[in-house]
Amino acid sequence: MADLRILGVCGSLRKASYNMAALRACNELMPEGMSMKIAQIGDLPLFNQDVFDAGMPEAAKRFRAEVAEADGVLIASPEYNFSLSAALKNAIDWASRPPNQSWQDKPIAIFSCSGGPLGGARVQYDLRRILVQLWGHVLPRPEVFIGSAQTKFDAQGKLTDETTRKFLAELLAGFKVWIARMKK
Ligand SMILES: Cc1cc2nc3c(=O)[nH]c(=O)nc-3n(C[C@H](O)[C@H](O)[C@H](O)COP(=O)(O)O)c2cc1C
Repeated sequence: MADLRILGVCGSLRKASYNMAALRACNELMPEGMSMKIAQIGDLPLFNQDVFDAGMPEAAKRFRAEVAEADGVLIASPEYNFSLSAALKNAIDWASRPPNQSWQDKPIAIFSCSGGPLGGARVQYDLRRILVQLWGHVLPRPEVFIGSAQTKFDAQGKLTDETTRKFLAELLAGFKVWIARMKK
């Protein structure tokens, strides 16, 4: 069977983002038969229905196609003021408009990474609420919250915390099973 193609989406645009670093670590932790490319969302303009109707910008076309073609989407989300970053919500919105909204029946796994001790406990429930009403199929468990992120990565952005690596590996293994289940 061909590899399952995962699209990684990071909600932080920061160069030294811990979420992006954790997403990159997922590449090393993927179960066999799964591979990931990471989307760029920083060049998406702010969503505007007039722009959408007049003809989508290339960046939006690209992102919509990437989500549509992926067997699953893995979202790494920071928590901004107890919720999603504007960048991530904007990307979700661009891919959400009919016709052929890209989240329809899409298997999705999420994790969050934050500097605070809760690891983004609040953002994940907002994300689930948004994606579920778009008919995205969000993996219920395991939930992975990476708290106190500054203690879990080295200066080069390598995820050094073994427990966190194990949690992410379990999430990815569960995601593989979830994708197969959603395809039935
Ligand atoms: C606008 C803003 C709001 C934030 N709000 C929260 C928050 O509600 N909860 C939290 O745990 N951390 C919050 N933080 C801190 C982030 O967890 C921290 O900046 C983290 O490193 C962001 O993820 P990144 O490293 O992937 O960019 C906030 C940061 C910013 C810039």
